[in-house]
Amino acid sequence: MNEPSTTLGTLDADWTTTTRNPLGSAAAALGILGESVALREVVSLAQSVASTNAVVLLRGETGTGKERIAGLIHALSTRGDRRFVKFNCTAVPAGLLESELFGHERGAFTGAVVQRIGRFELAHGGTLLLDEIGDLPPELQPKLLRVLEEQEFERLGSTRTIRTDARIMAATNRPLEDLVDAGVFRADLYYRLNVFPIELPPLRDRREDIPPLVRHFAAEHTRKLGTRIESIPAAVMDALVRHPWPGNVRELENAIHRAVILSRGSATLELPPLDGRGKGDRSPAAQPTTLEAVTRVHILAALREATGVVAGPQGAAARLGLKRSTLHSKMQRLGIGPADLAAAGRSLPRACAGPSASPLAH
Ligand SMILES: Nc1ncnc2c1ncn2[C@@H]1O[C@H](COP(=O)(O)OP(=O)(O)OP(=O)(O)O)[C@@H](O)[C@H]1O
Ligand SMILES: [Mg+2]
Repeated sequence: MNEPSTTLGTLDADWTTTTRNPLGSAAAALGILGESVALREVVSLAQSVASTNAVVLLRGETGTGKERIAGLIHALSTRGDRRFVKFNCTAVPAGLLESELFGHERGAFTGAVVQRIGRFELAHGGTLLLDEIGDLPPELQPKLLRVLEEQEFERLGSTRTIRTDARIMAATNRPLEDLVDAGVFRADLYYRLNVFPIELPPLRDRREDIPPLVRHFAAEHTRKLGTRIESIPAAVMDALVRHPWPGNVRELENAIHRAVILSRGSATLELPPLDGRGKGDRSPAAQPTTLEAVTRVHILAALREATGVVAGPQGAAARLGLKRSTLHSKMQRLGIGPADLAAAGRSLPRACAGPSASPLAH
């Protein structure tokens, strides 16, 4: 967090080149970013299982990157040049699921005016990702089990058995064990799917991934919007790193997109409004949730680090990446006054006040 400042353009190039991404060239090519040991382990598991035909079960909270990792496994497999078919088990009404997955013959049911192939046939030779597998209705579970065990099925309205050579992956953000206990998910299907589970940890458990993701999304959205953001103040990055991100990487990306829009006209990224519905160990006092409260806390922290000094190279304004006049007006608006400055001056011995300018990149 104390690296020298650099431009967004340089940063973006760093992370999209295949050589600089610590997760390897295939992950880089698919835009999978991160530095944490946990994510490296996930990528290493993906690499190990890719060349096999084993069923992979991707588990983890919403937005943690399950679909991205499934894409990586497919890309690294010998099927990489074949189809990668994604199917979300909640995306179609239960009544249509069977025909979507297994296909149907003409006249199989009212409205089946033409023959249609299903996802298992479509993915023949390639990979089929069954997303939100926990929502697969009980009546379809034996049929899926049969495909997994025997690689065969029939289209609706047909007695002809079709063999499929689709590599199956499944993803879920619900604990399947609980669904098994509740009697809504078959235990035999669970065991058949759970051959090679890969758990995507929530972002709050791998906070080292947040700065590179923030820098990448900031660079990306800055480029798309044609804005001129060049750096991310340390206080903004700190707040982003500390946020619990219940929606994980998806929520982070959306927040940065919002921040880039809100920072239009500024050379630094402003803190976006952060969703207060967080999980994690935040105490209300330590982790305010409104934008104003977060901003206030971070300005006060920068003032403390600068021992109450606003201007100058070691001052709070420089630490926050703001002009002195901008910081003054923000302080006025937030009711930070002389008493706070005096308290900041007393609160931290000078020797303890480490540098906090948080540049955009390495
Ligand atoms: N490591 C990563 N690097 C870059 N982008 C990522 C990473 N992980 C996730 N994302 C992005 O976050 C978003 C959510 O990822 P993805 O769709 O893979 O999550 P998911 O776990 O499948 O979520 P859900 O359970 O809601 O389906 C996507 O836009 C994806 O590109
Ligand atoms: Mg998904």
